[in-house]
Amino acid sequence: MKAEGAVRLCRFKKLGFIGAGRVGSALAILLQRAGYEVAGVASRRQTSAEILADRLGCPALSKPEVARRAEALFLTTTDDAVAAVATELAEAEAFHKGQVVLHLSGALTAEALAPAAAQGAIAMSLHPIQSFASVEQAIAVLPGSFFSLEGDSRGYSFARKIVAQLQGRSFLLDSEAKVLYHAACVAASNYFVSLVACSLDLLSEAGIPADMRLPALLPLVEGTLNNIRSLGIPHALTGPIARGDAGTLKRHLDALEQLPEQLRLYLSMGMKTVDVARDKGTITPEQAVELRLLLERYCRHLGEASNPASDQQRAVGCSARGELS
Ligand SMILES: NC(=O)c1ccc[n+]([C@@H]2O[C@H](COP(=O)([O-])OP(=O)(O)OC[C@H]3O[C@@H](n4cnc5c(N)ncnc54)[C@H](OP(=O)(O)O)[C@@H]3O)[C@@H](O)[C@H]2O)c1
Repeated sequence: MKAEGAVRLCRFKKLGFIGAGRVGSALAILLQRAGYEVAGVASRRQTSAEILADRLGCPALSKPEVARRAEALFLTTTDDAVAAVATELAEAEAFHKGQVVLHLSGALTAEALAPAAAQGAIAMSLHPIQSFASVEQAIAVLPGSFFSLEGDSRGYSFARKIVAQLQGRSFLLDSEAKVLYHAACVAASNYFVSLVACSLDLLSEAGIPADMRLPALLPLVEGTLNNIRSLGIPHALTGPIARGDAGTLKRHLDALEQLPEQLRLYLSMGMKTVDVARDKGTITPEQAVELRLLLERYCRHLGEASNPASDQQRAVGCSARGELS
């Protein structure tokens, strides 16, 4: 896009928000504080729109009216509703040429906004790499977050300015890469929660009182996060696999055999941990082979226990790296 076009977009000040949930509300509040005008908000339920509109001192309007008034329109609905709302707005001919239309989903690409692009809008996704549990928490943590930008390159300058107003940082993402990128975010956030849940299960099995389990783990989790922050990966890795301690690993696996669900997770994380320990350089290739063979043996036990006839199941999650072949 020509430079003057990018400058024009950066002057856009009138924003509209459709979807008055956690992300939409926090973004609208923060961008209004940064000097943007919120021209209107809409949501599925009128009460949600009114709560946000009262807080901002702006009108709660119909969805097409918000779209018509906005130079830049944020579709901050649930993921499932993004394409449907874009279609609804296109049917009402509410988009306009040169308008920037963004959604905040990590799972969807800008393609979900195709009806807006068909009416001449600049369609983008702007995904904050953060987890938002409430509006207030989102207001606290959105500033300084990382964002991915994807979609119509004409909108990059505008999106970058929005990120800068939020004191954030951003990178560009190819549309085809977005699904893998989102899987990475899910692994780091959602699956981390599930990993802690698995650890809590094991503490429960070990007879630790319920009110002590999470408080006992949190300093360990926070210490590990601090190590990741200060040392990076692989250097933050500690523990039996990083030390090449096959005896301890075997005792863990023996103890976990009675808990197949937790064993399955322990085995797949163990395989990845051997890779990290190799990258860290604290185990030799021979120790890596020994640890993988041990993990594979228990993978086979697990497969046999769940379905003795299934060779396929035995293979699941058990493929070794080149060192074994
Ligand atoms: N929460 C996170 O951690 C997080 C992180 C990064 C990105 N995101 C993305 O941010 C976007 C919003 O997520 P959120 O966490 O803010 O969700 P949320 O709190 O559940 O809010 C979604 C809002 O969308 C509204 N909505 C649903 N269907 C609608 C429709 N057909 N028309 C108009 N409004 C509709 C709902 O309206 P009513 O309240 O009126 O029913 C609700 O207020 C999603 O794309 C999500 O993937 C979320």
